[in-house]
Amino acid sequence: MTEHVIVERLGAVQLIRMNRPDKKNALTRAMYAKMSAALIDGDADPQIRVHTILGVPGAFSSGNDIADFMTYATGGELGREVIDFLLAIATTQKPIVSGVDGIAVGIGTTLNLHCDLTFATRRTVFRTPFVDLGLVPEAASSLIVPATIGRQQAFALLALGQGFSADRAKTAGLIYDVVDEDDLERDVFAAAEDIASKPAEALKIARDLLRGPREPVVARIREEVELFSERLRSDEARAAMAAFMNRKKN
Ligand code: COA
Repeated sequence: MTEHVIVERLGAVQLIRMNRPDKKNALTRAMYAKMSAALIDGDADPQIRVHTILGVPGAFSSGNDIADFMTYATGGELGREVIDFLLAIATTQKPIVSGVDGIAVGIGTTLNLHCDLTFATRRTVFRTPFVDLGLVPEAASSLIVPATIGRQQAFALLALGQGFSADRAKTAGLIYDVVDEDDLERDVFAAAEDIASKPAEALKIARDLLRGPREPVVARIREEVELFSERLRSDEARAAMAAFMNRKKN
C-alpha cells in the first residue's frame, strides 16, 4: 500500500491525507486505490461518522498523474482505480469535509464536488484544464457544476480552464468557506466534529435528501470516463501531455 496517502482515525473522524508533496500530490493509481478503500472501510465502520480529505501545505492535488495518463495514451492500461474512486466518493454513506490549500487542479478540484463542506485557503486556485489537455470533464463535474453555479460559470471553469480563486469559488457556491492557511486544518476538524455530534440517522436522511439520487451522477461519471478514455488517446491529448512532461528539458 502506498505511503502517498495517509489514513488516520481520530475518534469518529477519518482523515485521508494525500501526501506526495514532491509531485504536488499528483494522484497515482495506488493513491486512488488507497483513498477508495478508506472511504469504503470508513463507511462500513460504525465508529467513523465523517470523512475528511486534506493535502499538504500549498498542494491539495495537481490532479491525475500525467505520467499514468501517458502510459494509457500510448497503449497501456487505464486501470479501474480512477473510476472506482470516483464511484466511491460519489456514493459515500457518510459526510465528507475537505480542506484545500494551494494547488487544486483537475480532480483536485472536482473531488470537492462530492464533499459536503469544502474549506479553502485564500491562496487556493481551483482549475480544471481538461480541454487544454485535449480531455473532457470528469467526476460528473459536467453535471454537477452547471447545476451548482450556472452554465456560463461552468463553461468558464470546465471548458475554458479559468482558474477560480477561493473567493470566486465561494461566491459561485462551489465551496463552503475561505479561511487562513493556519486555520485550515483546525476548521476542517471542527466542522467534522460538529457533524459527528449530530444524530446519525437524521443526519444521513438529511444528507441523502440534499445530495439527491446518485444514479444520474454515477451514470454521468461512467459516460465521462468513456469519453475521457477515448480523448486520452487522441493526438490533441498526447501532444499536450508530452509538452507537460518535456517542459523542463528545454
Ligand atoms: N502529474 C505528474 N507529475 C506532476 C503533476 C501531474 N499532474 N503535477 C506536478 N507534477 C510534478 C512535476 O512534473 C514536477 O516534477 P519534477 O520535480 O520531477 O520535475 C513536480 O511535480 C513539481 O511540479 P512543478 O510543475 O515543478 O510545480 P509548480 O509549482 O511550478 O507547478 C502545477 C505546479 C500543478 C501548476 C504544475 O505542476 C502543473 O500544471 N501540473 C499539471 C497539472 C495538470 O494538468 N493535471 C492534470 C489535470 S487533468
